[in-house]
Amino acid sequence: MEVKWLLAIVHLLGMAIGVGSVWARGRALAGTLDKPGISRVLTADNWWGLSAILLVVTGLLRAFAGYEKGTEYYVMNNFFNLKMALLIGIVLLEIWPMITFIRWRIAGGRGQAVDTSRASLFSWVSTAQAIMLVVMVVFATGMARGFGMG
Ligand code: HEM
Repeated sequence: MEVKWLLAIVHLLGMAIGVGSVWARGRALAGTLDKPGISRVLTADNWWGLSAILLVVTGLLRAFAGYEKGTEYYVMNNFFNLKMALLIGIVLLEIWPMITFIRWRIAGGRGQAVDTSRASLFSWVSTAQAIMLVVMVVFATGMARGFGMG
């Protein structure tokens, strides 16, 4: 029972950190990209990465390790599947920014200039990801309450 509660706490905190950090990353990318600006982007990106780990680990445990309603319930639920489809969309949208920010970190570490030419595109991507997280909340709360059972 306590484990179930703990998983729910960490899952919801992960969501709060996720929405906040990816939104902040989008705003930082739309701002001036001098040294402090780039460091604002990368700090937000660190929190976004942490939230992904918290959400996926606790989510998988809740769905498939028997802490909530059991695997059967979720795989049959349309809202769960829509939630996972949105998650896949967010992950696919993340591939290019992720590779780019790794390059930024490497360049920054070597004292080289970073290529910020795609920053405004990645700002839009981050904002879209924040909106997709909010839509996930709608499906998640529905599925938890028996909606989406077909
Ligand atoms: C691999 C990824 C994920 C899996 C497998 C997963 C799975 C789950 C499960 C099993 C529940 C419990 C539902 C119930 O009480 O029956 C849940 C709840 C919830 N999830 Fe996720 N989740 C994942 C990622 C996310 C993400 C990225 C978000 C961000 C929006 C999110 C937001 C929520 C919310 C808001 C709830 C409802 C609150 C609650 O009942 O605790 N989940 N999720």
